[in-house]
Amino acid sequence: MSRKPIIAGNWKMNKTAKEAREFIGAVANAIPSNDLVDTVIGSPAIFLEGMKKGVKDTDLKVAAQNCYFEDFGAFTGENSPATIAALGVDYVIIGHSERRDYFGETDEDINKKAHAIFKNGMTPIICCGESLETYEAGKAEEFVGAQVSAALKGLSAEQVASSVLAYEPIWAIGTGKSATQDDAQKMCKAVRDVVAADFGQDVADKVRVQYGGSVKPDNIADYMACPDVDGALVGGASLEVDSFLALLDFVN
Ligand code: PGA
Repeated sequence: MSRKPIIAGNWKMNKTAKEAREFIGAVANAIPSNDLVDTVIGSPAIFLEGMKKGVKDTDLKVAAQNCYFEDFGAFTGENSPATIAALGVDYVIIGHSERRDYFGETDEDINKKAHAIFKNGMTPIICCGESLETYEAGKAEEFVGAQVSAALKGLSAEQVASSVLAYEPIWAIGTGKSATQDDAQKMCKAVRDVVAADFGQDVADKVRVQYGGSVKPDNIADYMACPDVDGALVGGASLEVDSFLALLDFVN
């Protein structure tokens, strides 16, 4: 089963609107065709509108890094999935470990967000991943499997098949200590196996699973060579024009 690779940059809380404009101006025409790869930038919500204008007529897609699960109402400071969708945003990253750890997001919140994102016609990039303690205790598969099952609860088979799941071991995020190729393959396969158990093999064969955690131009090809790794979610190495473009070299 061939799945189209998806490489997503996650800028986190970095860049001003001007820096974002300059970045998009520099990369927009160098992005490989989206017949070959889906290329996405996850930008801060405050300049999603400018991002969408910047990528118009290019093969670059835009993601929000989070959203709320209600469309409108008295939720001061939150960003509505309906409002984000109205800007033409394609993807929303949800369940990032920084959101879970620093902002107390639960599996239940993430599941509600997944439903809200689909309701608004966008695609979720759903993150999962274990702590170092869980990894060292040999419980990574069990822990991550439970996160994935909880996040996908109640979605249709069609919605799950079109989702993107990002396996990101917390101990590898921003640390320079990336997972081995074998670990990345084993865990991305474990994520796919959970989808197979919950929604059937056909759905599992279609869902795209990314690896994330210290992915760089010099290691991305190793991950992309794994049969169950369909792409990468990249923080630090997505911030500079040269390294972002170099992440896409594996396509050629
Ligand atoms: P990193 O971040 O590439 O800087 O490790 C990945 C992520 O948090 O998505």
